[in-house]
Amino acid sequence: MSALDVKKIRSDFPNLHIQVHGKPLVYLDNAATTFKPHCVIEAMDAYYSQGTSNVHRGVHYLSEHATQAFEEARKTVAEFLNAAKPQEIIFTRGATESINLVAQSYGRAFLKPGDEILISHMEHHSNIVPWQILCQQTGCVLKVAPINRQGEIIWEEFLRLLGPKTKIVSVVWVSNSLGTVNPVENIIKEAHQRGAVVLVDGAQAVTHAPVDVKALDCDFFVFSGHKIFGPTGVGVLYGKEKLLDAMPPYQGGGDMIASVTFAKTTYNVLPYKFEAGTPAIAEVIGLGEALRYVQSIGFADMAAQKKELLEYGTQVLSAIPGVTLIGTAKEKTSIISFIVEGIHPHDLGTLVDEEGVAIRTGHHCTQPVMDFFGVPATARASMAFYNTKEELDVLAKAIHKAKEVFHA
Ligand SMILES: Cc1ncc(COP(=O)(O)O)c(C=O)c1O
Repeated sequence: MSALDVKKIRSDFPNLHIQVHGKPLVYLDNAATTFKPHCVIEAMDAYYSQGTSNVHRGVHYLSEHATQAFEEARKTVAEFLNAAKPQEIIFTRGATESINLVAQSYGRAFLKPGDEILISHMEHHSNIVPWQILCQQTGCVLKVAPINRQGEIIWEEFLRLLGPKTKIVSVVWVSNSLGTVNPVENIIKEAHQRGAVVLVDGAQAVTHAPVDVKALDCDFFVFSGHKIFGPTGVGVLYGKEKLLDAMPPYQGGGDMIASVTFAKTTYNVLPYKFEAGTPAIAEVIGLGEALRYVQSIGFADMAAQKKELLEYGTQVLSAIPGVTLIGTAKEKTSIISFIVEGIHPHDLGTLVDEEGVAIRTGHHCTQPVMDFFGVPATARASMAFYNTKEELDVLAKAIHKAKEVFHA
């Protein structure tokens, strides 16, 4: 039994207590985005109602106050990831923008025709398309490590594809459509032995386990605020200082410069070199608060609750005749993708919604995964630590009801 007081935890999240179609909401779409606790909403509200100012540019009280809160959040992120310094933390719009930043800045500066980028077959489109664009621009080549029917990277194939031409390995730690937890520690070790740099897509991983970028020794790590109980519109790129220092800016504009004349511009120091324009100030402050909240709960208890939910959800869903789970890796987090014989996932999603249950249906931005399993889409229940077994029972009941409607 997990030690979490889930009832108390649930009182922190106002969005959990709404009604949908006259029924209490059962929110099982946490891999798409998570709800925000009061403390995050209040921190953002305080910035907008009493502390609005631009950052880094003023000497007045409000500006200094906002800058301090903004830079405090950067320190919180650095501590959360165990980065060596706050300067290694770049605020972006999200995991997607962070990967694009690395592809366009590091990739265009350091890759040449024939160089290889290695990803896996289970990547989110955000970790496929930026590399395809880079390949078109530079003549480098995208390689894809295959997966097996359980939804795991085939390790021997991964090693076979990791060669002297591999310059970047970019892999998802936790798959958003399969729930698979990839062995990133080993991936990083093997890649480094062959001289490649490694980007870890941590969008789903940050709520799964504590992240220690120093221990992992990854070169880049990305995540989005909204998947870890923070706001949308803000994300993080962690990069090793010496790599970020060597990389050219991604975008030009205010704040990222040291000096500008029409003849020449010199760039600001890290992290500002990569933060052109007014940043998402309220969102950064909200993200800092979200990470402090997560740390106050503790990963051990969150993980225990999610493990229970995964086991229970797997059991109740597999017991429904006609349900097939997609993604049965040995190492999994609380994401369950499935199909129901005779019901298109979209119809299933609509019918369970009528019972107040929010699940996601579609390709989950992983079309190659759908192609691999020969399905157009899946239904996906993704649980956060504030979910309960009773909610999974409501989902199971709603699926039974949908089966009756479809005579499936
Ligand atoms: C594994 C993974 N990577 C990247 C992303 C992209 O995140 P965002 O849309 O917040 O940039 C997601 C979002 O679903 C994801 O699940």
